[in-house]
Amino acid sequence: MVVAWAPGRVNLIGDHTDHTGGLVLPMAIDLGTTVRGERGGDAVVLRSATEHEPAVVPLDIDDPTTVTPGWARYVAGVVAELRPSSGFTGEVTTTLPVGAGLSSSAALEVAVALAIGSEASGLDLALACQRAEQRASGVPCGIMDQLASAVGVEGHALRIDCTTLEVRPVPLPDDLDVVVVDSGQPRELATSAYAERAAACQAAQVAIGPLAEATLADVDRIEDEVVRRRARHVVSENQRVDAFASALATGDRPSLREAMAASHASLRDDFEVSTAALDALVGALSEMDGVIGARLTGAGFGGCVVALVERGTTLDLSHSRWHVQAAAGAHLD
Ligand code: GLA
Repeated sequence: MVVAWAPGRVNLIGDHTDHTGGLVLPMAIDLGTTVRGERGGDAVVLRSATEHEPAVVPLDIDDPTTVTPGWARYVAGVVAELRPSSGFTGEVTTTLPVGAGLSSSAALEVAVALAIGSEASGLDLALACQRAEQRASGVPCGIMDQLASAVGVEGHALRIDCTTLEVRPVPLPDDLDVVVVDSGQPRELATSAYAERAAACQAAQVAIGPLAEATLADVDRIEDEVVRRRARHVVSENQRVDAFASALATGDRPSLREAMAASHASLRDDFEVSTAALDALVGALSEMDGVIGARLTGAGFGGCVVALVERGTTLDLSHSRWHVQAAAGAHLD
């Protein structure tokens, strides 16, 4: 019996920076996806406790988007990338909320890849699963979600330089908790809007070169007003990742708060991926006792907010929420 587990992730800061080689600071979390079964046969067949229809993916699949049901496309993306020589029959279970912005699809991809026999290193595993996600969803996503799931470190966030793909674990202080709060608003329009934002970033790079190396003065030279704002978000967000990581090391609450507030405002005003529900939730959390900072996390357009709170803080909210721990990356049991 093969048992593979892969975690979801929450991003503490550094959103919409990975697809231009910028900085991100996610952590793998103690919620994740398990794939359990036996290798063999000529298809990958997975049943899910929560989905009615199984995923049945032939080993010679070419186009993952032709597969039904929807969740099976991610399985098909992995099979199309890894081309295993034999199939797999088993089941999928998850403790992650699906589609809430905690990278349930990345966790599924990485768990499936390990289950069907990938022996790639953490980075190569993540790169294969990123390509699988792109093929399955059509979203030109970056590397953050799959890499966090593959190489997470217990008790640490991961500062990832998405140009060099260097991963530096950043210890999380014992006296802070990370809470993920669901806005209750399903992620919508995420596919087309994500691609549109990524295209604007590419246009900015044509104008001023790699955003990962650009300064705010470079950004000011961009003529198109919308492209300029998108680039300003990315360049300023890259700076906030390092400011936030330094503030974590010294436990500097005012700087942590300021970086999270500025990140949210930039995602709202310059990158325009927030929603009224996310803004209201961040606003309410930021006023609560014990909350150090809060911001939307992940792609936006609905989904979750991440809050950094003093250990033991109880949040007076009706929203679903998860106190998450930084977990180790994917593994076979
Ligand atoms: C999604 C993508 C990631 C990243 C985030 C935004 O989760 O899959 O690559 O771009 O959005 O930071």
